[in-house]
Amino acid sequence: MCGIIGCVGCGDGTLSTLMHGLSKLEYRGYDSAGVALVGAGGLRVDKTAGKIEALESSVADRDDLAGTIGVGHTRWSTHGPPTDDNAHPHRDCSERVAVVHNGIIENYQSLRDELAESGHDFDSDTDTEVVPHLVEAGLDAGNDPETAFRDAVARLEGSYALACVVEGTETVLVARNDSPLVLGVDDDATYLASDVPAFRAFTDRVVYLEDGDVARLTPGGWSVTGADGELREPAVETVEWDAEDTGKSGYEHFMLKEIHEQPRALRQCLRGRVDELGGRVTLEELDELDVDRAHLVAAGTSYHAAVYGARLLRADGVPAQAFLSHEYAVAPPPAGEATVIGVSQSGETADTLAATRTARRRGAETLALTNTVGSTMARECDHVCYIRSGPEIGVAATKTFAGQQTALNLLAQHLSDGPVDRELLAALRDLPGDVQTVLDGTDAEAVAETYLDGDAYFFIGRALQQAVAMEGALKMKEITYKHAEGFAAGELKHGTLALVTPDTPVVAAVTGDGEPARKTVGSVKEVEARGAPVVAVTDGRSDVERYVDHVLEIPETHPRTAAILANVQLQLLAYHTAAKLGRSVDKPRNLAKSVTVE
Ligand code: AGP
Repeated sequence: MCGIIGCVGCGDGTLSTLMHGLSKLEYRGYDSAGVALVGAGGLRVDKTAGKIEALESSVADRDDLAGTIGVGHTRWSTHGPPTDDNAHPHRDCSERVAVVHNGIIENYQSLRDELAESGHDFDSDTDTEVVPHLVEAGLDAGNDPETAFRDAVARLEGSYALACVVEGTETVLVARNDSPLVLGVDDDATYLASDVPAFRAFTDRVVYLEDGDVARLTPGGWSVTGADGELREPAVETVEWDAEDTGKSGYEHFMLKEIHEQPRALRQCLRGRVDELGGRVTLEELDELDVDRAHLVAAGTSYHAAVYGARLLRADGVPAQAFLSHEYAVAPPPAGEATVIGVSQSGETADTLAATRTARRRGAETLALTNTVGSTMARECDHVCYIRSGPEIGVAATKTFAGQQTALNLLAQHLSDGPVDRELLAALRDLPGDVQTVLDGTDAEAVAETYLDGDAYFFIGRALQQAVAMEGALKMKEITYKHAEGFAAGELKHGTLALVTPDTPVVAAVTGDGEPARKTVGSVKEVEARGAPVVAVTDGRSDVERYVDHVLEIPETHPRTAAILANVQLQLLAYHTAAKLGRSVDKPRNLAKSVTVE
């Protein structure tokens, strides 16, 4: 949701380290930003509404903004609109304490009332601002900064990743509960952030904090105490990807770069897991996993992957159902013997964590299918399977959706008691090359240009292509701000057909020559008869071309991989539409990459 960066030991480079970190974290929130530094001149804060560029111009005008330790924040508003006052860091009355926060402090109102009654003045509408005032109260009571911070944290209910600096100290104090925080450790400096890209340019050694941890970063190093207050010695892990993986590599947008990274990402996902000669899929990490039935829980794009994956599992003999994680958390179905599979790119989505935690409380075995090593979901679930897509920065999920689809194919084969599908193994072998063929030959840009004025876009597909239709619509609406709906083609005549006009392009995913394709061609004829322009994403095995205005081609492949290839065309269609409309492709309004609040 929000992004936090902090550093100790960067000397004169403290401000530039913080600004670099914020630029790498902006995908987590981008409605306001700020920094706080502590040095010989005291505590200095600069913060402003708007994107990081606004903060960059603001700090450029400040020659007093210096210090040797610091914290920074980029915000996605939860309490109060994006204004200068609501931007983090927040301070206490005496301006000795500055705090940045990600999460929601649920008991903030009672704390605020209590603090206001004892004379504290508040400048913002945020829940966060109670924290510096609580620390201030502790300092006024004669406590040292660390005790004051720990006591303040002990009063909080809700989710938080917190970082706090206090004037006159050389320490950054950190606490985590239900919101991601990771330390980056180097010989001379220590960093903290919501996510590794913020400091990956400086170090590849990381320490993932646990819920209940309080960490202390000083020029001499770092230490962590656990929820029980005892010193812990967490493992220092090494990140396997490079700093360049978080740059744009010459592409205009991260989203376009990430769409083009899919052949490589899928190769990584498949590496060492498919033995085509031996006719086996091996997910070594899941050797101990035995699944009688499965509940897949997820949100947004990951939910569409879950819908797709549940179909694969069912077809391979494992009864499986996909659930929206936020619904599963509040109204879980009868548990039975189901293994609960959390599908989440980030592994930090609060809704999906709530669902996997509900499952654990009910005694279910859990599996995390995620992209993010060390994420909360990966650490909390009994089993984890990584999709290995590499860092994804664009808010719109692209390569991670393809990675989820691919990993779910592997999972379904791995769990199946039936014979392995050798045609699928061959199709998976060819998948990275087939995605490259789509990328090299796509006409999506020209099609996008033709329909920029569309009133709304409808996406239809049957069977495995239903999930693709839903995902195509989500991609279109989140980055173009155009109305879009995606659904099973059979639903069209049960309501949405009333909205179809010559100004509502319909995009149909029609692959193969089986019943789903034949019936979707029927749906295409229905919309064509109402004057709607139709775009078909097809492998040319049906006669859909006869009824449509445009074709986006994919190579012939297995029906399961056809759904991965068709989606690539829809990603490109959404991307080019958004780019031509001049939208903020990588950071669409009101959204954030990682939704860490429920
Ligand atoms: C899709 O483009 C969005 N980024 C969003 O729907 C996302 O898939 C959803 O918030 C779930 O995120 P997760 O995969 O990190 O759990």
